[in-house]
Parts: sequence; C-alpha cells; structure tokens
Amino acid sequence: MRIALIILAAGVGKRFNKDGNIPKQYVHLQGQPVIYHAVKAFLPHVDSIQPVGDPETLTSILSPLENKKILSPILGGKERQDSVRAGLEALSALPEAQQPDLVLVHDGARPNISAEIIQRVIDALKEYPAAIPAIPVAETLKRNKNNVIDETVCREGLFRAQTPQGFQFKPFLDIHREAAGSSATDDAALFENVGLEVALVQGDEDNIKLTYPEDLKRLECLMSNMMLPRIG
Ligand code: CTP
Ligand code: MG
Repeated sequence: MRIALIILAAGVGKRFNKDGNIPKQYVHLQGQPVIYHAVKAFLPHVDSIQPVGDPETLTSILSPLENKKILSPILGGKERQDSVRAGLEALSALPEAQQPDLVLVHDGARPNISAEIIQRVIDALKEYPAAIPAIPVAETLKRNKNNVIDETVCREGLFRAQTPQGFQFKPFLDIHREAAGSSATDDAALFENVGLEVALVQGDEDNIKLTYPEDLKRLECLMSNMMLPRIG
C-alpha cells in the first residue's frame, strides 16, 4: 500500500499577515519554518511527499531534510482546491509503480501534527474511502444578524474539521477533475457531494492551523521543549 502526502503551501495568508509579508507557512517557529515541522512529522508515515507552493522557497526549506521521499515542489493555484488538484495531477504523472494507493492532504500551516492523528487517518482508510480528523464543537453556537443574536444553533453532532484528510487516490483524482472550477471548503466536501462515506476520526485541539497572528504564540508554547521545573 503506497501512501503519498500533498503538503499545501501556495496560500498567501491574508488573515495572518495583512502587510503581505512572508506567507505564514514560511514563518519561523522553534528555529525552523512552520512547513518544515509538518513535513518532518509525516516522513515516517508516507512513501512520497508532494510539496505545493513556491518551488524555490520550498526547495531551500526542505532540502536540509535530505530525504528522497520529498518530490520536486510544484506551483499551486488560486484557490486551495486548485492547489490540491495540482498536487494530484503531479502524483498521477509519476510512473505507474510509484503512484499512490492512498493520498493524504495536509495544510502546510499546521505544524503541530501528531503521529497518532496521522495513523488514525491511515487506519480508517482500510475501511472507508475517505477519512478526516475532527473535534467536537464545545462552545455554544449563535447565528448573528446585524450584530444581534438571531438564534442559538444546536451544536449536537457538530465537529470542526482538521487535516490531514485522507482518500483513496484514484477516486479522489477523478472527483477533483470533475469538480474543477467549483470551490469546496475542504477536500472531504468533494467526496460528500458525490455520496461517498467520509469517516470521522479523533482530532486534536493542539493540531492548530496558523491562521491569525495570535496562533503563533500558542504554537510556540505547545512546541517548545522547555519544561518548567517542578516545585516540591
Ligand atoms: N493554500 C494553498 N493554495 C491556495 C490557498 C491555500 O496551497 N490557493 C494552503 C495554504 O498555504 C495553507 C492551507 O492551504 O497551508 C490552508 O489554507 P488557509 O489557512 O486558508 O491559508 P491561506 O489561504 O494562505 O490563508 P488566508 O485564507 O488567511 O489568506
Ligand atoms: Mg485561505
């Protein structure tokens, strides 16, 4: 069973950096760019990794890992879905023997990914055509209408989706080609739309996507190895 990872880094990060400076996936965290941590975490679990984003930047960040599993980076597209499709097309252009059976798609801006989540997604793909990690919504949800609460939304059964999202490669490629031009909010939605089952596996509160500037401090804290000395 061959497993490939598409790691996404073609976004500009408007919510993180309004000045249009360095995109968030390239910001340093614990001495390395955010995306470096994500790629390193996946290396033991997959057979190949297709980075999608600025090829020059990605090559200089990832070459120190000196790993043959990492394929040449390719350019992404305007929307996230376009970038995923670019990654899928690159994988489908590999020689038949190197093409994956399963593909995982992960946000390059999500560096604190655990081996347990990656394994849970891969395990679920033995039973389901697709699987994603998610966490139950804990807060009470309100619908806003002109800055006044319109209604309280029942949160029962509601989950927040994370990545990596995992799929059987061939159907995922076909569905993506069919859906070119539409804009789904995540990869699982494309599978749901054609009536295929997507399994939910347990995600992790610490699997944070760097989205706003304040997320960086939380990630620094989570990923630092500094242990406070115990008193008493
Ligand atoms: N992404 C991508 N190609 C795009 C848009 C997004 O590869 N056209 C990637 C981002 O680089 C990121 C991941 O998808 O790793 C998750 O997207 P998001 O958090 O929305 O990142 P951005 O689109 O860069 O941020 P924003 O929406 O705030 O501009
Ligand atoms: Mg975005």
